[in-house]
Amino acid sequence: MTATPARERTVHQADAVDGPWWRHAVIYQVYPRSFADSDGDGIGDLPGITARLDHLVDLGVDALWLSPFYVSPQADAGYDVADYRDVDPVFGTLDDIDALLDKAHRLGLRVVVDLVPNHTSDEHLWFAAARAAAPGSPERARYLFRDGRGRHGELPPNNWTSMFGGPAWTRITEADGRPGQWYLHLFDTKQPDLDWSNPQVRTEFEDVLRFWLDRGVDGFRVDVAHGLVKADGLPDWAGVVTMIDGSDPVDGGAAPHGRTSPMFDQDGVHEVYRAWRTVLDSYPGDRAMVAEAWVEPLERLARYVRPDEMHQAFNFSFLSAGWDPAALRSVIDRSFAANDTVGAPTTWVLSNHDVVRHASRLGLSDPTRRPNGIGDGDEQPDAELGLRRARAASLLVLALPGSAYLYQGEELGLPEHTALPDELRQDPTYTRSGGAERGRDGCRVPLPWQQDAPAFGFSPNGASWLPQPAGWREFTVDAQRGRPGSTYETYRSALRLRRQHQLAAGDLTWLPSDPEVLTFTNGRVLVVTTMGSAAVQLPPGARVLISSDTSQTGDVVAPDTTVWALLD
Ligand code: GLC
Repeated sequence: MTATPARERTVHQADAVDGPWWRHAVIYQVYPRSFADSDGDGIGDLPGITARLDHLVDLGVDALWLSPFYVSPQADAGYDVADYRDVDPVFGTLDDIDALLDKAHRLGLRVVVDLVPNHTSDEHLWFAAARAAAPGSPERARYLFRDGRGRHGELPPNNWTSMFGGPAWTRITEADGRPGQWYLHLFDTKQPDLDWSNPQVRTEFEDVLRFWLDRGVDGFRVDVAHGLVKADGLPDWAGVVTMIDGSDPVDGGAAPHGRTSPMFDQDGVHEVYRAWRTVLDSYPGDRAMVAEAWVEPLERLARYVRPDEMHQAFNFSFLSAGWDPAALRSVIDRSFAANDTVGAPTTWVLSNHDVVRHASRLGLSDPTRRPNGIGDGDEQPDAELGLRRARAASLLVLALPGSAYLYQGEELGLPEHTALPDELRQDPTYTRSGGAERGRDGCRVPLPWQQDAPAFGFSPNGASWLPQPAGWREFTVDAQRGRPGSTYETYRSALRLRRQHQLAAGDLTWLPSDPEVLTFTNGRVLVVTTMGSAAVQLPPGARVLISSDTSQTGDVVAPDTTVWALLD
């Protein structure tokens, strides 16, 4: 079989190379509690991150995104914010974030922080005030409190279920001790949803944006960006809600939850982002927002990145396409078609803190399956095949025009922890689903830095909020640095070549190939990803720049491999 170019089909034109940074950036997600622990409490922290920023410079990324580090009871690992303007003591202080920003900027790295506007923690001052106040009060009107149904209000106001399993409503006890109103929480009971039709809520978040922009952040990753506005009247909904990360639902048969549900992708959200855009645009520098919006089809997602709204939106359709050449080709085509109509870059992603790491996902017998966590007793991925495909998938992503997000540890080829003891699980999805969903802890295990240090160098004393598998010894940064062909060195080389050949600002032209092979050019670089069982011969004169296959020698591309080659 050969990948010789014949008839071509261009699906994306090159972009100006000197555009704003976010159009082409590789952004590395730091999950603070699992990156580096400086004080030995077993939980990563801001000083730990600052001390290890050199790792990101060595790797060659442009920016980092920090998952939440704000004051929080940590009911959902910080996505339950009690104070949006302060740092949780477990992660450090405001001085620590200032020091992190300062050092990152000196090293040439931009910093994006997480913003969680759909809900607060139930320990936020506003929610405490809402509980204490009477039904119908202005304090309650910042959240979605409603009377219950049934004769005595004993039934929830509608039939919605939480993304984490169980009902989406919790009933409170009123100040006089009687059972009272219900409040909506699309997530955990400790994450009450805000009412975005309330002007106070809007003003507050614009002010929070300014607070962090004034401190020097370069942008925001907006949590549940498709969820802020709910359909008028909060109508019952007969659809099945998938888990928040769009993973396979417990009962199998759901549609993507962004499409038709009354809780997601309502037109009203766009007004919020237009207002935020004016706030960001009033600051110097190119500050940017990225939407976490599990929305399909891609034309609907593109509405979040219209010129006066957000800058980027994670391409979760791509993440969900598995290791399926037809699905990947189709999603790449549809992504460019949709985003090119609004002039926005595509934003590729394979892993994050909500999904099974791609080195494990792609090693499942059905590599399009997306379980919500893997545990003892579940099908265990084929580790070797998973890593092989993960490296190929990552090289595919890094060859695509646009921006890309990396999740900490993927540059080491880290697998999911697929055998965490259930009693150590902390993700609320595990308990709220009655154990039916293993949840997201397996992708959140602290990073291994050094082979011969306690907790592989994550903490000074070996403490680690989740245990690291012993097999991670071979994945540590120090075991891989300087070792040709290691996953870490492969990412480094890929990032260097991506810059050198201006792939992020490039074009994409498909070349005819076997249905199980993706073959395209980006500028003068030929990219071949083999997903079937047959090897592929590169065209004559093509010079291999990089291969995901450690044993690559000549011009034959083995199965489950991505090669970048320079065309004459
Ligand atoms: C987003 C976050 C996820 C969190 C949820 C609720 O999907 O990525 O981790 O649990 O929102 O805030």
